[in-house]
Amino acid sequence: MIDKINELLRQVEEFRPRAAAEIEEFRIRMLGKKGELTALMEEFKGVAPELKRELGQRLNGLKSETLARINALREELQNTAGERAAADDDLTRPGTAEELGSRHPISLVRNRIVEVFSRLGYTVAEGPEIEDDRHVFTKLNFPPEHPARDMQDTFFIERRGEEPAPDDILLRTHTSSIQVRTMERQRPPIRVICPGRVFRNEAISYRAHCIFHQIEGLYIDEGVSFADMKQSLLYFAKEIFGEQARIRMRPSYFPFTEPSAEVDVSCNLCGGKGCAVCKGTGWLEIMGCGMVDPNVLQASGIDPEKYSGFAFGMGIERVAMLLYGVNDLRLYFENDVRFLHQFRSAL
Ligand code: DAH
Repeated sequence: MIDKINELLRQVEEFRPRAAAEIEEFRIRMLGKKGELTALMEEFKGVAPELKRELGQRLNGLKSETLARINALREELQNTAGERAAADDDLTRPGTAEELGSRHPISLVRNRIVEVFSRLGYTVAEGPEIEDDRHVFTKLNFPPEHPARDMQDTFFIERRGEEPAPDDILLRTHTSSIQVRTMERQRPPIRVICPGRVFRNEAISYRAHCIFHQIEGLYIDEGVSFADMKQSLLYFAKEIFGEQARIRMRPSYFPFTEPSAEVDVSCNLCGGKGCAVCKGTGWLEIMGCGMVDPNVLQASGIDPEKYSGFAFGMGIERVAMLLYGVNDLRLYFENDVRFLHQFRSAL
């Protein structure tokens, strides 16, 4: 009988079920009415009294071992049941839909602007965000002492000397640097639209940010006139803000254009009557523009006697604010999905 008990103990220890059903089977085989232990109990009744004590202890030991093992195995199996359940999932059930993202409003507006100008024959040009003084300032006719070179506006990457050097490395402050790079490698006719990220050393507020986006345009050919510029920009304004949009130009100054102008578009909220957004004027400023200064053409090897051209530059965030009526610039940089989800488009 001792041998039998020991044999069953070994079986209990070595029992390795693969499924819950096997544990139950095992339980019945060991502890069931016709099970091994029941049979041993029966046999125990006929054991000589002097052996009862020891055998009784061993039998009880076997019984509690068996119960403990079964319980432990059941628990173990339950813990892995979660994983199993996933594998046993009904694969014919309809899936949960993936949430689709949406394009960032700045990308949407950029794409729209690029699309409008590409209809006028412009192609996209890009340039580096890490630039040098020559492309951002010098070749755009900025005199050495111009305030835009000041540390307050520009992030310099390398330490500046007293005088700005053409190889000073900096983060571009405007996309006009792409104009220069295009003129350096391409001969007229040139018609490019240049979107990009720009950087300025400014305190962040609802209306200013140290990183923002611009789109630059440049058109150079023989006989390009101010009237061509005006017509192109009016077309742009109507395409972006609607057929009712009007533009006006105010004289301005940029080192790289002469004459220069600031372009306003009629307020699309009040239709020009005057409201809080346009501060009662009926007009909203959207870009700078002008006829490319002969010095700028010359600096990149284009003959100003033969060619003329116009250029313009606008902030994409600014256009987005006017289009969507979102008046805090910071929202465009926070990437809060509750904000971003409101912009959905096929473009
Ligand atoms: N670069 C100017 C700025 O950052 C914008 C601009 C004005 C670009 C006039 C031009 C232009 O090409 O002709 O404020």
